[in-house]
Amino acid sequence: MRKHQYGRFMIELAKGDISNLRVDAIVNAANTQLVLGSGVAGAIRRNGGPKIQIECNELAPINTGEAVVTSGGKLMAKYVIHAVGPIYHQYTPHKAEELLKDAVLNSLNFIRLKKLNTIALPAISAGVYGFPAAKCAEVMFSAVFDYIEKYSDTSSNRLVKIIFCLYDQTMYNIFDEEFEIRIEKEL
Ligand code: APR
Repeated sequence: MRKHQYGRFMIELAKGDISNLRVDAIVNAANTQLVLGSGVAGAIRRNGGPKIQIECNELAPINTGEAVVTSGGKLMAKYVIHAVGPIYHQYTPHKAEELLKDAVLNSLNFIRLKKLNTIALPAISAGVYGFPAAKCAEVMFSAVFDYIEKYSDTSSNRLVKIIFCLYDQTMYNIFDEEFEIRIEKEL
């Protein structure tokens, strides 16, 4: 699985079910009502047990682009960050990209708030919400690199691992292509 280090940040790609990852936090592709439906949320519901939805009920509703955190319930992850990506056809492409970037940056903010060492994100909005996969990869990588740039020179020297966890080979290949372009740009 491709990975690359940028200062104290390691970006990694993984393939599989994000709800099975042993990381500090996984990001859920949530909806504004924080109802754990299908897709990523369905896997979290099935494997995490009822506690996560009970906590979500206390926090709902939230806006598109926002993120809140609950415990990980029975998951190996300590926390679940519930981030709401845009329903693609409800916005102009530009606005949808802005909202997706907000959802990623608001998720990454918990790295500092909860002092996380490892966080995993799915391809937010690229499923039921219809965000074009290649554009999703581009926007999510941009958001991660903006975050790294902003927080790479803080006093903390804690190594932070940011993992993109893709469910199938097609999506993995799309994210891998985007990752390769960015690694080459940097070299
Ligand atoms: N692990 C990692 N990735 C997954 C998993 C999983 N267990 N299940 C699905 N995916 C992938 C999908 O293949 C897609 O690429 O995550 C991406 C996001 O898909 P969705 O989960 O459908 O999320 P999204 O498009 O943001 O739609 C959110 O769908 O499931 C409902 O309750 C959810 O209302 C919310 C909406």
